[in-house]
Amino acid sequence: MRLDGLVFREAVEPDVPVLQSFRNDPGVNHFMVRTHVDPDDLRREWLAVPHSPTDYSCVVERDGQVVAMGFLDIVDGSGQPGHPTGTDGVIGYVVDPRAAGQGIGTATARALVRAAFDRLGLRRVTAAANADNVASVRVLERAGMRRERLSLKALWHQELGWLDEVEYALLDEEWDARGPDTSRAPDVRTRAT
Ligand SMILES: CC(C)(COP(=O)(O)OP(=O)(O)OC[C@H]1O[C@@H](n2cnc3c(N)ncnc32)[C@H](O)[C@@H]1OP(=O)(O)O)[C@@H](O)C(=O)NCCC(=O)NCCS
Repeated sequence: MRLDGLVFREAVEPDVPVLQSFRNDPGVNHFMVRTHVDPDDLRREWLAVPHSPTDYSCVVERDGQVVAMGFLDIVDGSGQPGHPTGTDGVIGYVVDPRAAGQGIGTATARALVRAAFDRLGLRRVTAAANADNVASVRVLERAGMRRERLSLKALWHQELGWLDEVEYALLDEEWDARGPDTSRAPDVRTRAT
């Protein structure tokens, strides 16, 4: 998919060192539930994505360089026995800190939401963030998601203890009602060198 001047695609072997170079950055892991990712696990997991029926994670490319990763997993909703399965999506994203603050996080969330509804036909998309992750909360709001839940002291953090968590969601009917995308596209800026 192409959107907002970025390319969203499956990862290939040459992308792995770049992904490894920022996925375990301390500033990134401060906000991640899954903290340190073993480099071999990272390679194995990303190269397995094209073969997975439920994992649509992607790398994000700007001007030929990988600058972020997006996560999109198809999951089951919850409910009584017999509920439909594989109907919901969970999204997430990590922007290379060297490319932060340039609209890439917002563009990535917009692309993941669009892929979930328009390409995968999902019913409901959610995303969660530490309540104090101001940039991520802003990304979700800019992507048009709706704040649905604030869970107090719900998330354990190694340095900070129990943290509040926010969850955002969007339903397919809300997406459809929106019509042509009128939300404000991020101004994805080319990084000054
Ligand atoms: C959160 C993250 C994805 C944001 O990506 P980004 O490309 O820097 O975000 P954008 O440039 O699209 O900016 C989105 C908004 O956040 C704001 N923002 C960006 N960095 C910020 C910061 N450090 N503090 C406060 N606000 C910030 C921007 O001003 C913008 O707000 P605006 O729309 O009002 O102008 C990125 O910082 C990141 O990967 N963080 C570490 C991993 C993480 O937190 N992932 C999400 C887990 S839920």
